Amino acid sequence: MSCFSCSSRPKDPRKRIAYTNASQSLSRVVDTIECEKNNLSPDGERSGGGAHKFTLRQLAAATENFREANLIGEGGFGRVYKGHINSGQIVAIKQLNRNGQQGSQEFLVECLMLIMLHHTNLVSLIGYCAEGQERLLVYEYMSQDLPPKREPLDWNTRIKIALGAAKGLTYLHDVVNPPVIYRDLKSANILLDDEFNPKLSDFGLAKLGPVGDDTHVSTRVMGTYGYCAPDYIMSGKLNVKSDVYSFGVVLLELITGRQAFDVSKEFGEQKLIVWSRPFLNDRRRFVQLADPLLQGRYPRRALCQLSVVTSLCLHEKPHMRPTMSDVTAAIDYVASQPYIPGTNCSTPPLSPPPKDVSASNRNEDNKED
Ligand SMILES: Nc1ncnc2c1ncn2[C@@H]1O[C@H](COP(=O)(O)OP(=O)(O)OP(=O)(O)O)[C@@H](O)[C@H]1O
Ligand SMILES: [Mg+2]
Repeated sequence: MSCFSCSSRPKDPRKRIAYTNASQSLSRVVDTIECEKNNLSPDGERSGGGAHKFTLRQLAAATENFREANLIGEGGFGRVYKGHINSGQIVAIKQLNRNGQQGSQEFLVECLMLIMLHHTNLVSLIGYCAEGQERLLVYEYMSQDLPPKREPLDWNTRIKIALGAAKGLTYLHDVVNPPVIYRDLKSANILLDDEFNPKLSDFGLAKLGPVGDDTHVSTRVMGTYGYCAPDYIMSGKLNVKSDVYSFGVVLLELITGRQAFDVSKEFGEQKLIVWSRPFLNDRRRFVQLADPLLQGRYPRRALCQLSVVTSLCLHEKPHMRPTMSDVTAAIDYVASQPYIPGTNCSTPPLSPPPKDVSASNRNEDNKED
């Protein structure tokens, strides 16, 4: 909790990393994709600032001709296949649906973003293919899926995921310059490796954040229902705090084991943020948020601290939401109190919440439709 006393900590401008030759990289990739697509190297030559340029033939070979058995899943962008490239590396290959301009735009944004951004909690782009009408992206392969597709995760793993995802977002918001607004944060876009290290994926909707005195960028509202900040939906004004809200929804999912939006639930329980509001607004009821599948195996105090962080991220007013740097610091503190079976599942009663937290919980306006 005490780490929230630093929520107004000024950002250290020295920590920001300017995109090195961002515009050069950008034009190089645009050139590569749009102008040189008929001039592809047979063995996946390096281009576009670090990503391999693959031929369609190579990616067909990698996926055994896009065999159904190699299909991992399908999203709005297209189908995702597991494959092996020549180096022997296992990869995930995303094939764009051939239906329109929007996907093509997202392909380009995704390439540019992932070529320029590098962090342990962002998925790595290994390469791409732009041949004829075909657009494919080749990523490092991430082997685990978040629930509900797999076994329920234990408390410590949930915190590990929350912390890694927070670090990835902090990098986008507070380290790179200009900041990047991710815009599509949801659990489906947090991929996990063998050791449950999380990495953010899907940068097709990402936007460069406001620069100078601007407080936001105006855009068409994009994102996923259940995760979008209400202020962004209402105004189309996007800033880094829109991501902070979505991160709050992901935290809620991790705490409760529920999905952000679940049509199989009764009316009134379908939207997680609506269902959870009475619990989030009353610290005596925080424990009622806990996923029943955790079976009480969590440190009570840490759960309450994480609920406070979640509540702040979901604040109705964007400027009242914490920065991702502060969220990361707070989750780091939560992570320092892991669940140890038989020792800390019944910790002493909570001390009163810090002033700023109780103020946000008293806020009657903290509502979303
Ligand atoms: N790098 C990867 N490694 C392993 N699996 C991946 C990788 N990228 C995507 N997937 C899997 O492929 C499936 C589809 O992912 P995709 O990102 O296309 O859609 P989505 O994020 O679920 O939804 P949408 O993109 O429509 O919002 C998901 O199950 C995802 O876990
Ligand atoms: Mg995705």
